[in-house]
Amino acid sequence: MINMDYNKIEITATEAETIIKERFQINGKAKRLPGEIDFNFKIDDQNGKSFILKVSRPEENIDYLNFQQQLLEHLAHAKKSLIAPKVIKDIEGEGISEITDHHGNKRKVRLLTWISGRVWSSVNPKSNELLYSLGEECGKLTQELCDFDHSYANRKFEWDVAQSLWTENYLLYFGEKEREVLEYYQKRFKDLQGVYSQLRKTIVHNDANDNNVIVSEDLQNPKVISCIDYGDAVYTQSINDLAIASAYAIMNCNNPLQAVLPIISGYHKSFKLEPEELKVLYVAIGMRLVISVTKSAINKIKEPENEYLLISEKPAWDLLHKWYDVSEDFAHYSFREACGYAPHPMASKFMDWTENQQLTIEALFPTEASRIIYPIDLSVSSTFLGHEKDYEDQDYFKFKLNQIQKRNPGTLIAGGYMEPRPFYTSNMYEREGNLGIEYRTIHLGIDFWLPANTPVHAFMEGEVYSVTEDKGEKGYGGLVILKHRADDFEFFTLYGHLSIESIRHLKERSIVNCGDLIGKLGEHNENGGWVPHLHFQVMLSMLDYKNDFPGVTFHSELPVWRSLCPDPNALFKRNGLNPQMKIPDHQIIAYRKQHLGKSLSLQYDIPIKMVRGKGQYLIDQFGKKYLDTVNNVAHVGHEHAQVVQAGQDQMGLINTNSRYLHENINELAREIIETLPPELSVLHFVNSGSEANELALRMMKAATGAKDVIASEVGYHGNSNACIDISSYKFDGKGGQGAPEHTHIFPLPDKFRGKFTGTNTGPLYALEVKKLIDKVHKKGRNVGALIVEPIISCGGQIELPEGFLNQAYAYVREAGGVCISDEVQVGCGRVGKSFWGFQLYNVIPDIVTIGKPLGNGHPLAAVACTQEIAEKFANGMEYFNTFGGNPVSCAIGAAVLKVVKEEKLQQNALQVGEYLKQELRQLAHEFPIIGDVRGQGLFLGIEFVDKKLKPLKAQADYVINRMKDYGILMSTDGPDNNVLKIKPPMVFTETNASELIFYLRKVLKEDFMNAY
Ligand SMILES: Cc1ncc(COP(=O)(O)O)c(C=O)c1O
Repeated sequence: MINMDYNKIEITATEAETIIKERFQINGKAKRLPGEIDFNFKIDDQNGKSFILKVSRPEENIDYLNFQQQLLEHLAHAKKSLIAPKVIKDIEGEGISEITDHHGNKRKVRLLTWISGRVWSSVNPKSNELLYSLGEECGKLTQELCDFDHSYANRKFEWDVAQSLWTENYLLYFGEKEREVLEYYQKRFKDLQGVYSQLRKTIVHNDANDNNVIVSEDLQNPKVISCIDYGDAVYTQSINDLAIASAYAIMNCNNPLQAVLPIISGYHKSFKLEPEELKVLYVAIGMRLVISVTKSAINKIKEPENEYLLISEKPAWDLLHKWYDVSEDFAHYSFREACGYAPHPMASKFMDWTENQQLTIEALFPTEASRIIYPIDLSVSSTFLGHEKDYEDQDYFKFKLNQIQKRNPGTLIAGGYMEPRPFYTSNMYEREGNLGIEYRTIHLGIDFWLPANTPVHAFMEGEVYSVTEDKGEKGYGGLVILKHRADDFEFFTLYGHLSIESIRHLKERSIVNCGDLIGKLGEHNENGGWVPHLHFQVMLSMLDYKNDFPGVTFHSELPVWRSLCPDPNALFKRNGLNPQMKIPDHQIIAYRKQHLGKSLSLQYDIPIKMVRGKGQYLIDQFGKKYLDTVNNVAHVGHEHAQVVQAGQDQMGLINTNSRYLHENINELAREIIETLPPELSVLHFVNSGSEANELALRMMKAATGAKDVIASEVGYHGNSNACIDISSYKFDGKGGQGAPEHTHIFPLPDKFRGKFTGTNTGPLYALEVKKLIDKVHKKGRNVGALIVEPIISCGGQIELPEGFLNQAYAYVREAGGVCISDEVQVGCGRVGKSFWGFQLYNVIPDIVTIGKPLGNGHPLAAVACTQEIAEKFANGMEYFNTFGGNPVSCAIGAAVLKVVKEEKLQQNALQVGEYLKQELRQLAHEFPIIGDVRGQGLFLGIEFVDKKLKPLKAQADYVINRMKDYGILMSTDGPDNNVLKIKPPMVFTETNASELIFYLRKVLKEDFMNAY
């Protein structure tokens, strides 16, 4: 920067307006913009056009300005669809104009077209698609500049990565820890000079920083449209430009490597990157950051009081530390993958080499006679693995393996390459990525399931690379890594879960000949806590590992690891050892579309294949865990061990209809009756909520002789004929034909946006029910029933206003009707304060229908009623239900209710629900888009509206999609689909609630959520 007394060179906005008028004949308003060197103004003219006026410092080098102007002129003729500022000529046809400022200094002035859009720094979120488009635009620019030349471009410039070693002179400005990082990159940069100096060079933009990148106004699918400010352009290695764009764009990410890959892919699409360039990219990014932090350190010394300097250097340092932790080799392979090259440069060489080798599994296990492979499925969806409690029980797992071995003598149980597995659950398998928490689930080797003490021998010659004991839960235990030479490259083999004693004879760097003993399989207590087996893996590089190497990895990195750790069966070529193929999703979808009901929907644009449930989580086929806030059906948690066990146990004995005597049906009845008021003491068991409501309607007819039903607007009560007829949600919705003759709908009692709002609306809504009763009477008929949910779920989690239910029940009873409480969604403790929803309002219904939660996913439902109604219903016609009340369903139902009691889940719903509601209220305070927070216990809703209470459906949809990206499942509902429903399994914890709030807050800050 040229240092001058600022007051003597300042240009005012009025002066800028005069300049554009006199030199460019433009009448416009000027607004000062920030600028490090030039004085910049945004000009808005009378025709709605905008420009940027750049006034240089007095003694600015004309060559430098010429260089920039010619570069822009070059881009103006770009072949590709590239948007760059265009040069506006002055009245004399010059691209660089000259003026004398009010201090009397001669100043150079340039006017460029304004590129409208948003600056990168203001855009939130920075999606992978956006990162890709950043790369794509930067690549286009480099491509266009390939045939541009200018003498000034070959300049000395501290921000040029190629010239970055000047930073070595300033190491003393840093502490020891920081110096270690800086020196590392400086050293690596020097080491790489052989390759780096040979890379192609072009003039590049050299400064695609946060404020120089312009993004489109589209808030859902934004794209980078242009790079502005060419003041840092320089002739240098082309790859530096990508390094710079990347260094800025990946600041503030949890995982910078993950974030940089889309940028590289996009760049490669526009400007083909060469493999040699990818070799240096990691270090080039590091060096740009080294320049940046060194510049900051120098400036800090110049201006010690300037706190802004401290703030601005922080993200660069944070990134530098994170980048330092990334393996350079792994980054290199990932970059190659992003460009469509084989991730590991030796991958195809290795495969070619294996083709001519005669290596055998028998050499690996010489004591085991030649055996055919028994491929075993230990994937997330494996039914052999079964319930978590089964595979976590080592004795049981071992027993099951032994059973397989017994039933399949002469086989070798093996498999697992690239298999997504559910059992890596300790913290060491977890990390926070850019899209929430990720787990290492993909198995990189092959497991051979053989007894402890089975000797493992070298199947080819190798050098002992490391011999260690990998301590810790779910580690390798005794671990040996061998290094092998093959033609002109080397590779490694890994032997995990050996006994410590058996590997002591190996010395690092010693040679192991083909046939030599490596070690013996370890017992559980010394092999990392596993059932005895050999984990055998091939690696083409060791990355930065010395005595260890991952045996499982993240699904998001699978292609790179597959190349780095090729299939060990390439060595042995044995049938049955190849990775097991699952039916691909697109085939499952195609079959569904063709052969399953056409109105069956699938959630999300890319549907998720869930294969396992666990408490409050659902787990997809790749082992990705989703926090579930949707499925209240899995009441006590997905696949709760006790419930699963109850079902499995009873299933093995008998499952038949309720005409035979069995204790289970009574036990379930007892469990339910214990929770109900004494008036409701008779139960009928059915298989679904619909069937329960269907039966309730039959009871109503038997008890009252009437057919007319009063139900709520947007209520849903089931999918059968009679249930659809009382479900306004359906008959008033798509494909519906309005209310049938005998159904009467009262307005949704929504005190936030309903017919009556505010406090004291209960009596008003009750009066609406009364009006309907009068209407029925006018038609000369009687009212059969009022059916209503205690919190109207499809209506958008609508809590009934105070006094409503009491009064409405009174009106209905007065008219001879019965009152049905549909507890299919909210029953069994979910609302926290009480076990049943109706108890929130101090009423006692005549009939209660119970569904979803009762079977925890098993089709089990029930109808509870008074003795009087039961008597009237038993009019001689037998009620028979083939499946209802069978011993398996009843065993499951009883187990569910016991778990609710034993694990105090109703109290949990109250406690966690209150906490969550309070946090949601805090969010509503911070983000006015949340107009209402409502519900009870773990049955909550938040409603998105604008200032005028207009519903914001698009925003609600946006949130559920973004939350899915972060691994949280949510759903929307309500007549306008603008309500987020929260109704997780009841084992949801405060930590889960905090996690939910954390990500909601993150998403609520995003641009789309703030432009309504
Ligand atoms: C309130 C209510 N009642 C009844 C039903 C019907 O239950 P099922 O789907 O088990 O037939 C549902 C289903 O969502 C419901 O939400």
